[in-house]
Amino acid sequence: MAYSRAFNPRRVKFLSRKLHPITFYLVLLVAFFLFTLIYISRKGLEGVGQKAASSEEIRSERVQGDDDILHSKVIMQGEQLWTPSFSFGLHPCVKPTSKYKAAQETNRFITVRSNGGLNQMRTGISDMVAVARIMNATLVVPQLDRRSFWKDSSSFEDIFDVDHFINNLERDVRVIRELPKGLESIPHARRHFGSWSSMGYYEELTHLFKDYQVIHVPKSDSRLANNDLPLDIQRLRCRALYQALHFSPPIEILGKKLVERLRSRKGKYIALHLRYEKDMLSFTGCTYGLTEAESEELRIMRESTSHWKVKKINSTEQRNEGSCPLTPKEVGIFLRALGYPSSTLIYIAAGEIYGGSNQLLELASRFPNLIFKETLASAEELEDFTDHASQTAALDYIISVESDVFVPSYSGNMARAVEGHRRFLGHRRTISPDRKGLVEVFDRIESREMNEGSSLSRKVRKMHENRQGAPRIRRTAAPGVRGRARFRDEESFYENPYPECICTRKRQL
Ligand SMILES: *[C@@H]1O[C@H](CO)[C@@H](O)[C@H](O)[C@H]1NC(C)=O
Ligand SMILES: *[C@@H]1O[C@H](CO)[C@@H](O)[C@H](O)[C@H]1NC(C)=O
Repeated sequence: MAYSRAFNPRRVKFLSRKLHPITFYLVLLVAFFLFTLIYISRKGLEGVGQKAASSEEIRSERVQGDDDILHSKVIMQGEQLWTPSFSFGLHPCVKPTSKYKAAQETNRFITVRSNGGLNQMRTGISDMVAVARIMNATLVVPQLDRRSFWKDSSSFEDIFDVDHFINNLERDVRVIRELPKGLESIPHARRHFGSWSSMGYYEELTHLFKDYQVIHVPKSDSRLANNDLPLDIQRLRCRALYQALHFSPPIEILGKKLVERLRSRKGKYIALHLRYEKDMLSFTGCTYGLTEAESEELRIMRESTSHWKVKKINSTEQRNEGSCPLTPKEVGIFLRALGYPSSTLIYIAAGEIYGGSNQLLELASRFPNLIFKETLASAEELEDFTDHASQTAALDYIISVESDVFVPSYSGNMARAVEGHRRFLGHRRTISPDRKGLVEVFDRIESREMNEGSSLSRKVRKMHENRQGAPRIRRTAAPGVRGRARFRDEESFYENPYPECICTRKRQL
């Protein structure tokens, strides 16, 4: 593991000869806490139902013996709602290592069609940048999928700043806007890359360039492994996603404006990614809290959507497994139980909520300051975005990354991408609801065994102590999981780019 180097005892000994004793003591102390942190995170710091110490506990432990300890416990309660997780001096690091060589001009080309929604495309494009680097090929600016469910006709330059993308990656990969004339009409190798493929897989595939100058890749999502790749490739993925793939100027400008507008209202805000769109509910078969007519409508939609393979879903079982998005009402109960006051400003990052404003009543009664794109921006400002799902998603993305607290009501590409970006930027607070645990609690409220009061609050807070986006090394697959299931089980690289792109001060390279 890359980390072991920082704790090499010989190195510590060496330091002790050179440094002032107090500095040495501090180094040891920092090393000890990092070690504790890593040890705990390996054991599943954020694992459900485990009795591992939370980051907040570590933090108190750190000052044990200090006069500060009482003070730190007192500020914890209020601060904990809004501040970034205590991040142990970690910071983003994406610089290449010293062996990294600048990209060279090549006559091998990769063309890509990026599939999926906005965040699937963003992470897929970043992977393709890394793949082009591994294969020593020139990358042609990816085409975006216009046929997918999202039916967005936006081109790459409508969503991303294409000049910035090309220039920013200059040293890493040569990127061009279009295939050179003359290469368009010659035969291309069309190749579906395997999902979660390794470095070796792509090195091997370079043999295709013996017969073809151009490889066309029809899909870009999750084509590269999360783990076991060289540090320079992993960091390139971070540079591609966080530094090269900027949104186009109109999106960036409006996004910033909307963030400022939110801040001018109350200073702090929660961004709630509320997955409660019709297609989401129909696909997951989650009908809890809906009327019979609504459930029926969702069932019919599912059965008539040919590419959704699972048709029969027992909504109760689905919900009990924690596989349903929280309902707006449940989100309301959840956030109140965590201690957010009802005056809290909540930005709703979402598509169209199924059931419309009726469905939001119980959330709005607990948190009257709900804000939507449509109430934050004027009709003129939104005009150019409205028919482009990916562009409105980009606005939601910006507002979510910049929020003080991010809460996704369900997991998905957007939730993962935003969480990872927030970790990268300084472990900004992201609260991931323990949906399975919460459902039990909600059912007890429903059956009146429990009230929305202080005992609920204690329970919910306890349950989420370790689900607030505190630093931890990316989770690998559970020990027993083998084969392809392993890739599904492990945490995605872009959900948590630690340790490769997040470092302690000593390990910059
Ligand atoms: C890419 O180019 C570098 C330097 O020219 C070379 O060392 C490496 O083997 C090449 N990789 C592949 C997969 O062809
Ligand atoms: C769905 O599952 C629940 C719990 O297992 C069960 O009680 C219920 O009868 C099931 N419903 C249907 C329609 O099968």
